[in-house]
Amino acid sequence: MEANMPKRKEPGKSLRIKVISMGNAEVGKSCIIKRYCEKRFVSKYLATIGIDYGVTKVQVRDREIKVNIFDMAGHPFFYEVRKPFLENLYPVLSVSLVTLGTVDLGSYFKQYSNCIKFSKFSSCLWLIDCTKHRCIDENEGRLWAESKGFLYFETSAQTGEGISEMFQTFYISIVDLCENGGKRPTTNSSASFTKEQADTIRRIRSSKDSWDMLGIKPGASREEVNKAYRKLAVLLHPDKCVAPGSEDAFKAVVNARTALLKNIK
Ligand code: GTP
Ligand code: MG
Repeated sequence: MEANMPKRKEPGKSLRIKVISMGNAEVGKSCIIKRYCEKRFVSKYLATIGIDYGVTKVQVRDREIKVNIFDMAGHPFFYEVRKPFLENLYPVLSVSLVTLGTVDLGSYFKQYSNCIKFSKFSSCLWLIDCTKHRCIDENEGRLWAESKGFLYFETSAQTGEGISEMFQTFYISIVDLCENGGKRPTTNSSASFTKEQADTIRRIRSSKDSWDMLGIKPGASREEVNKAYRKLAVLLHPDKCVAPGSEDAFKAVVNARTALLKNIK
């Protein structure tokens, strides 16, 4: 009789993870955490001094997760406070909740590039409050994040939009990672486009005119225009390239070529 009894599933082991908020000052890190933990929004800016700390518990499938949240001050003044803290966290399973509210996406990471390995568990969050305060469009944020192997979310601490979903996705991806022996599932979209494609799309978006967009000198010949166009078309054609923004970049390149050829005899 005992042999026929259904086996009781052992609950998964509990996990303890650290969520670290990182990003420039005043981009909304603390508000996101407050919204998530306390379900409220504070519109007055109160700069974090050093590091704030909090704990919470969540459940993912049959695992209990104890979450330690470290909310870092973003002001450059606290660089020395953050640095040793992050160095010590390096070997631990850590998650960076990154909010980026400024156009200079790479600069924040450069400061820490020697001491933290971001790629494996990091997630990138782009702070928006619907369209009002957006300073970079979704494609650009997504492209940047995915080219670094980060997850990408758009949220609002003010309305609460996307906040719980983002945290839940963090937790699920960590549990998946643990259950997968530390290997990331292969569905990661960052593997589906190259750095060259991502860099080219970024370059096209910031180009100042059609010459610049095709990467050629003003006054170049028809042949040079066509050659540059063909190279970019092969790289960015939407059938071949799935990087965020590739379709718009491809269209921009087609338009740039048409405009230039009109004026070259
Ligand atoms: P530091 O602690 O100095 O690193 O800043 P922080 O990144 O923690 O910024 P904080 O969360 O304190 O928010 C900065 C300002 O942005 C505050 O005035 C917030 O009210 C505002 N803010 C944050 N999130 C949102 C949001 O989703 N929508 C709007 N409208 N404002 C927000
Ligand atoms: Mg703060």
